[in-house]
Amino acid sequence: MNIIVNAFEELKNNISKCNNCGLCETRNNIVFGEGNIYSPLVIIGEAPGEEEDLTGRPFVGKAGELLTNILKAAGFNREEIYITNVVKCRPPENRDPDQSEQFACRDYLESQLLLIRPKIIITMGNVATKSILSTTKGITSIRGQLFDWRGIKLFPMFHPSFLLRNESRAKGSPKDLTWQDIKYIKKLYDEVKNIKNDD
Ligand code: URA
Ligand code: URA
Repeated sequence: MNIIVNAFEELKNNISKCNNCGLCETRNNIVFGEGNIYSPLVIIGEAPGEEEDLTGRPFVGKAGELLTNILKAAGFNREEIYITNVVKCRPPENRDPDQSEQFACRDYLESQLLLIRPKIIITMGNVATKSILSTTKGITSIRGQLFDWRGIKLFPMFHPSFLLRNESRAKGSPKDLTWQDIKYIKKLYDEVKNIKNDD
């Protein structure tokens, strides 16, 4: 096994024993993340929900189904990218993970990002975007814009759970804006995917 694969295995193993915050007391499984660890694109959600907690896989519930479909419609295979969350354990009742829980999980997420070294990161929803960009600005005002996270392009988008609560496809609706956003990202992805990291 190569170094990156080993490092991912070790990290996952460490997280499975993690008790850095109270979420460990109620989890069934950690949800580490899945997909292509060499991907130029990483998608970061908020936290596992019920089905994710039961299966140990990210985005496999209703929001996950929508995410998978949005990706497919834009020409991505879910398997070609890497998908994870800000926190790796389910918050009870699906509440937002609090600041201390996000902080307790931060090194794990950063390790994943620094090992993968993607060209593009998508943060989905308010929690992930605010957590990683250290901003207080709301997702509605900053989605669809490129930011910089340690030399990596970071692009906030609406969370698929939010889209499930906002069915309209009218021009300017969250679903319409998300469709513009993912098409933009696919174009950018195709431009940057073959550029090598310089090392
Ligand atoms: N919502 C998230 O933010 N992450 C998941 O893994 C599932 C639902
Ligand atoms: N609030 C969120 O947390 N996420 C969204 O995508 C929209 C509103």
